[in-house]
This record gives sequence, structure tokens and C-alpha cells, in this order.
Amino acid sequence: MLKGKLVNIRWIKNSDLKYIFEWINDPEIQFFAQEDYPITFNQWHVRRIYSDGIKGKRYVFIIEDKTGYVIGELWLYPIDLRKKMAELVIVIGRKNFHGRGYGKDAINTIKKYCFEKLKLEAIYLKVFSFNRKAINCYLSCGFKTIGKGVKKVLRGDRYFEELIMELRKE
Ligand SMILES: CC(C)(COP(=O)(O)OP(=O)(O)OC[C@H]1O[C@@H](n2cnc3c(N)ncnc32)[C@H](O)[C@@H]1OP(=O)(O)O)[C@@H](O)C(=O)NCCC(=O)NCCS
Repeated sequence: MLKGKLVNIRWIKNSDLKYIFEWINDPEIQFFAQEDYPITFNQWHVRRIYSDGIKGKRYVFIIEDKTGYVIGELWLYPIDLRKKMAELVIVIGRKNFHGRGYGKDAINTIKKYCFEKLKLEAIYLKVFSFNRKAINCYLSCGFKTIGKGVKKVLRGDRYFEELIMELRKE
């Protein structure tokens, strides 16, 4: 268990899938987090996506508040321990927890784990250019925009870029 100021971060387990099922199918969350939108995930899809995490074969974590209430998920995937880098994915799935410092605290907590425990040199992530809240959150955690992804994402009748952001160990 990794302890932040507002959150605890722990490995995912089977009983978390019911919470994930709710937010992975929430169009408001999908709008910001999923390339394909809107999209429906059935129980089988969800189990398949998270099964390697539950088996301990992937770095998939659950974010809880300090009362143990499940509020989101965090992935370090892919992770390359030889090249000392990992991609970070974060979703605070409970919308009423947005904008209250939980995302930032979760990232700062996992950042410490990545650099101090896993001895990584860099963490990177992808974010859609319209996702101001996420971009501000990442900037506030020390990430810098280093480029643009190849893919573009469609929202309504507009295409948006995917930005690549990176945080290097100081
Ligand atoms: C993006 C996300 C992880 C951010 O977490 P959060 O808990 O909502 O954000 P925080 O409250 O920790 O905010 C951190 C920073 O973001 C900025 N921020 C917060 N709410 C904001 C808003 N509504 N608009 C613009 N910036 C905002 C603030 O600058 C804050 O920095 P500061 O504390 O230094 O002022 C979370 O909102 C989320 O999961 N959203 C839905 C899915 C998603 O977009 N995932 C990311 C895909 S790349």
C-alpha cells in the first residue's frame, strides 16, 4: 500500500471490477479518457482488460481515499524496467472527487514509487489536447509536454491532437 496525503494506492483485486465497470462505461469519463467514444464495455471486456493486473502480471492499481472508498485507477503500462521508463494512465472514476486534489496526490505518490522503488528514470503519458483539467494536473505534478502523438482523436466533428508529456527523475 502506497500512502499519499489524500489517497492510498494498492494493487487491483477482483472485487474492484464492479466499480471500474461503472466508470469505464460513464460517457463523461470516456469523453476524456477513451479514444473511442462513446463505447460500451460489457463485463467480459472489463474482466479481460484487467485480468493481468489482478493476476499481478501488470502494474494496475486502485486509488482509494483515506476511508478506503474506491475512487479511481492508475496504470503503469507499458513499463520497461530495463529502459527505466513507464507510461502512466490515471482515471479518477468518481466525478464528485474531481478537482479536489486527489489526482495530483495520486500522481505524486506513484511518482515517488516509480523513482525511489522501481528506480525508473522517466514517466510519460498521453493526453487529449482538449483535456485542460488533466493537462493542468500533470503540469502541476512536474510533467512537461514533449511532443504530439501520431493519432488524432475525434470528438463531435473535430479532430484533436494527443499530447505526450514526460516527467524525468531530478
Ligand atoms: C484528470 C484527473 C486525473 C485530474 O485529477 P483531479 O483530482 O480532478 O485533479 P486535481 O484536483 O488533483 O487537480 C490538479 C491540478 O489540476 C488543475 N485543475 C483541477 N481542476 C481543474 C479544472 N476544472 N480545470 C482546469 N484545471 C483544473 C489545477 O491546476 C490543479 O493544480 P493545483 O492544485 O496546483 O492548482 C481527473 O480529473 C480525471 O480522472 N478525469 C477524468 C478522466 C481523465 O481525464 N483522465 C486522464 C486521461 S489523460
